[in-house]
Amino acid sequence: MLDKIKNYIDEVNAFKSTEKDKLEEFRIKFLGKKGVLNDLFEEFKKASSEQKKEMGQALNNLKNLANERIATAREEMEAALEQKAEKSDLTRPAMTLPMGSRHPISQVRRQVVDIFSRIGFTIADGPEIEDDWHNFTALNLPEYHPARDMQDTFFIQTNPDILLRTQTSSVQARHMEQNQPPIRVISPGRVFRNEAISYRAHCMFHQIEGLYIDKNVSFADLKQTLLYFTKEMFGKSKIRLRPSYFPFTEPSAEVDVYWGLETEADYRITKGTGWLEIMGCGMVDPNVLRNVGIDPDVYTGYAFGMGIERMAMLLYQIKDLRLYFENDVRFLNQFQEVL
Ligand code: DAH
Repeated sequence: MLDKIKNYIDEVNAFKSTEKDKLEEFRIKFLGKKGVLNDLFEEFKKASSEQKKEMGQALNNLKNLANERIATAREEMEAALEQKAEKSDLTRPAMTLPMGSRHPISQVRRQVVDIFSRIGFTIADGPEIEDDWHNFTALNLPEYHPARDMQDTFFIQTNPDILLRTQTSSVQARHMEQNQPPIRVISPGRVFRNEAISYRAHCMFHQIEGLYIDKNVSFADLKQTLLYFTKEMFGKSKIRLRPSYFPFTEPSAEVDVYWGLETEADYRITKGTGWLEIMGCGMVDPNVLRNVGIDPDVYTGYAFGMGIERMAMLLYQIKDLRLYFENDVRFLNQFQEVL
């Protein structure tokens, strides 16, 4: 037994740790209820009286030693912790947390809305589930009008009068029904078309519609507003208007912006022409004004419509429409806003 105690004394002397768990383990091993010391005291009880004297001393030694060792180890541990705290540099900038960012579509939408709100346009909203009247008929697209084929539509099966709007132009019709000129609104929103999904077409996308109705609004006003927009949006100050056709405007035009031919990318996205189509526009057709109860002999106005995905594609050189809707963070991460 004396040998055993001697071994334990060596073990206690050798113990060194500043870890809380190890120290606790050590304490339990020696001083715990079922620990070494209690066991040894049990043995001690059974020893003969001449053995007891020597053993008692050795045991007490071990006990005191273990207590001392634990006390000093505790002190060492606290000192080590203090030292560690002193080492941390409190002036260091905090660890950066990954921050979410706005979706590129939202960023572009906000930009466009911002640009137009600076010249007095306010936002008008409308429903995504529309009726035939607001999406088509009121906009000079009666039931058998061939131009309806320009937009493949999702109809509600049980009620062919209800559909998912194919264009934000529907908000024009609604807004004009409820408000008298002067009207100056833009309507950003989601639209839906029955198209096969590919890199260049999707069954859902976003548009922004613009509408301005007042007395004496002319095509020159439209042109100037569009020029202001392209300058603010793209930093480009040359546009051209190509004659086109939309049922709800007369005359109608498609707007091209001169992008330039400075880089290889310019060549690629403008197909070597330097020009890029960015939206459709025109003077609101008198039939449309009549349909919504505005007198076309008193009022005139212009309208325009653009695709937000397309704007974002141009601004960020995105080549595949599908990326917008997949929510892949590797894609979204690239559109951190500079705040
Ligand atoms: N609604 C048209 C489309 O979806 C875009 C458009 C063209 C809107 C001309 C207009 C406009 O207001 O004047 O293709």
